[in-house]
Amino acid sequence: MRSTTHPSGPALLPRPAPLRSGPELLRGHPVHRRSSVVVDGQRLELRPVVPSDLDGIDRFVRGLSPRSRFLRFHAAVRRLSSGQLAGLVDVDHHDRETVVVRDTSGAVVALGQYAGVGRGVAELGLAVADDWHRRGLATRVVAWLADAAREEGFRAFTASVLAENRAAIGLFDRWPGTVQVERHGTAVEVLLCLDPYEATALPAAAAADAASAPA
Ligand SMILES: CC(C)(COP(=O)(O)OP(=O)(O)OC[C@H]1O[C@@H](n2cnc3c(N)ncnc32)[C@H](O)[C@@H]1OP(=O)(O)O)[C@@H](O)C(=O)NCCC(=O)NCCS
Repeated sequence: MRSTTHPSGPALLPRPAPLRSGPELLRGHPVHRRSSVVVDGQRLELRPVVPSDLDGIDRFVRGLSPRSRFLRFHAAVRRLSSGQLAGLVDVDHHDRETVVVRDTSGAVVALGQYAGVGRGVAELGLAVADDWHRRGLATRVVAWLADAAREEGFRAFTASVLAENRAAIGLFDRWPGTVQVERHGTAVEVLLCLDPYEATALPAAAAADAASAPA
């Protein structure tokens, strides 16, 4: 992985634009989940979504390459509907969480989310801006979401990945608790145990059962 700490040290790098102050910060916004990383000399901020991120998320999705949008949404979409955008922003930070990664200009460069599907399992989705691929960002996004989900009592993520998506399959293969569940036509269902020790103990059949459990 090529993510590095800048030789001159993080303290000399510009800081991300501060969050707008507003009522969203007073209504249970999990401020403790905010963090920053330095990747290839650039400081990036990872934090839970706030309502004012809606336009930035819209721009981020429209700015992805058609191929990345297809791999993320399994369809040739050009942009998300207002309902889909609202679903990403309107989260409770417990059963549903969205992490936004922004650069120092405030542009969204990666986005990830989970949504509970029952029995301690949440569905995971993420995308990284094409210019930022292969710099360890997705790895950080999954780790951030796993920390948040563990905190909320989840035990596993499930993700539906197109079988042709070598990048996502490579990413999840590296997760210490990944169980490949099943192939459904062109998609592969994977299960990521949030406690890696559980993955070794969990037979694939039980994993499949957990992934398909009704809410
Ligand atoms: C899948 C995706 C999120 C990976 O993001 P990323 O930030 O480039 O991933 P990382 O840099 O953290 O890569 C971690 C590991 O995943 C694997 N990987 C990532 N991209 C890969 C590629 N193009 N080919 C093969 N393996 C790849 C590698 O093992 C990599 O580690 P390495 O770089 O040390 O070899 C990104 O390609 C993307 O946004 N794709 C479009 C949307 C999508 O497919 N979402 C997933 C479905 S939910």
